[in-house]
Amino acid sequence: MSLTSFLSSIFSEAFVALGANSAAGTVVVSKKPELAQFQCNGAMAAAKALKKNPREIAQTVVNSLADRPEFSELFIAGPGFINIRLSDDFIAARTRDTANDERFGIPPAEPPRTVIVDYGGPTVAKPMHVGHLRSSIIGDSVIRILRFLGHEVKGDIHMGDWGLQMGMVIVEAERRMPTLPYFDAAFDGDYPGQPPVTMDDLQEMYPKISGECKQDAGLLDRCQKATVELQNGRRGYVALWRHFVNVSVEAMKSDFHRLGVDFDLWFGESAYERTIPAMVEGMKSNGHARLDDGAWIIDVASDADNKPMPPVMLINSQGGTGYHTTDLATIRQRVNEFKADEVYYVVDKRQSLHFEQVFRAAHKTGIAPESVHLEHLPFGTMNGKDGKPFKTRAGGVMRLKELIGMMTEEASKRMLEAGVAQDYPEAERTIIAEKVGMAALRYADLMNVRSADYVFDIERFTQFEGRTGAYLLYAAVRIKSILRKAKEAGFEAGDIVAPSVDSERDLMLKLFAMPNAVTEAAREKMPHHVCGYAFDLGQAFSRFYNDCHIMTEADASRRASWLGLCRLVLREMEFLLGLLGIETPERM
Ligand code: ARG
Repeated sequence: MSLTSFLSSIFSEAFVALGANSAAGTVVVSKKPELAQFQCNGAMAAAKALKKNPREIAQTVVNSLADRPEFSELFIAGPGFINIRLSDDFIAARTRDTANDERFGIPPAEPPRTVIVDYGGPTVAKPMHVGHLRSSIIGDSVIRILRFLGHEVKGDIHMGDWGLQMGMVIVEAERRMPTLPYFDAAFDGDYPGQPPVTMDDLQEMYPKISGECKQDAGLLDRCQKATVELQNGRRGYVALWRHFVNVSVEAMKSDFHRLGVDFDLWFGESAYERTIPAMVEGMKSNGHARLDDGAWIIDVASDADNKPMPPVMLINSQGGTGYHTTDLATIRQRVNEFKADEVYYVVDKRQSLHFEQVFRAAHKTGIAPESVHLEHLPFGTMNGKDGKPFKTRAGGVMRLKELIGMMTEEASKRMLEAGVAQDYPEAERTIIAEKVGMAALRYADLMNVRSADYVFDIERFTQFEGRTGAYLLYAAVRIKSILRKAKEAGFEAGDIVAPSVDSERDLMLKLFAMPNAVTEAAREKMPHHVCGYAFDLGQAFSRFYNDCHIMTEADASRRASWLGLCRLVLREMEFLLGLLGIETPERM
């Protein structure tokens, strides 16, 4: 139970004994920490209900609790606010409990649910851009948090490999290499085993033709037709498409590996090709799909809508299927095969209409029973300093590989300036720089409310001070080195005893707030709660470390207790960073 829930239960009992509502006993962290640690503001409401004086009510509650060992002081302020200070013995005992608990007092989810997280979502043949980076980092962290709570979670990359972009690169390949057998409809031999293009080719081909299609309706029509032919199984197109997918997936795997992100399911939109016809037939026969101008659509608008809600496009007038159709077929599989209770989509907020339409259609057509929770977890745009979506210096899309390279380079610069790891072997320094760079990138991406846009400021993100991943890594590594040095001096960590210094007590109180940060992050699927808490913990530790001189402390049990506290903070810090997907080096 979290500390505030525990304290609330004590106060509730006291209020109920007076005939008041148990809600009156709710205890919260004090808004004025210089005055008290916690407060209970229920006396006013209780007094109103009982038609009594609030200060009198508060006084009766305080009198009934004054002898409890948890409190050192209970006092009333203003009209009847009860201020609470905990006893140092209670604080120490609770800190020891946390230290002895593998889960740091975080309760497991009850009951655990089967969850699918749809994230990453790169598109075959298109370069991976910072949007996919955000999706990957956020999705990865959400998965780590939900898994820790005990949910059965599967992460699915849901690659875009079946839409119009595939028709576009097929047409572009034909324009460049018309004599290849893939384009000869009469060819019935074996197609070459080697792909005719590299990833670099693909990344250049897609933007070129998609740009041209915007000006040239005839070319766009040709690409749409090629897409439908691919979807209908034209042999040469399927063989060529498979090459595109293989080349892309190989590149994605190496990018994601560097990012430290891995997927349980590597499905793409094309995985549902075979299940689409039966799904569509079902929707036609039960009347949910209707024919409209040659296309099959599902109406999803409701009278309560205050924004336009266009129908879902199941089969377009050319007979092709698109993003709506594959997403519906995917939900069908997630419900039927994976028995998902909850599905989360970590996708750019600009796709919110798409998901609203798809979720409505899924529930309306019964593909997903109402009990299955489908939710879009939207995220904002990573912008450059000009406030526009982040681009390379040349104005192009930033590839993931380049970005990671940039972060590592910048981290090396900061390390040089700060004198970090400078006397270590070059190879180790490089590994540390990559870790610092990745920590900086992940933390910067996760620290804001997910739906907000943010400005990519590489110089700030890699600073060893302030709200950065670099700072937190440094904080964790510093504790490792404190523990190492103490050990060398023959000092071991021991049982945590009652705090004697303000900053030591504050650090323990800060530790009590950790379970809440994690459960909030899980409830809202918002890792920034973890980021914010980890920073506060780092700061609280710094103040403690400044005030409590471990190595020169004469009292052995106090010294051992301080080292025990260091060990607990380190464990929590590494745990929290782990939830963010950040790895801590041994030394820095
Ligand atoms: N491939 C899509 C894109 O690049 C993202 C896929 C998101 N997931 C989904 N089930 N629609 O925008």
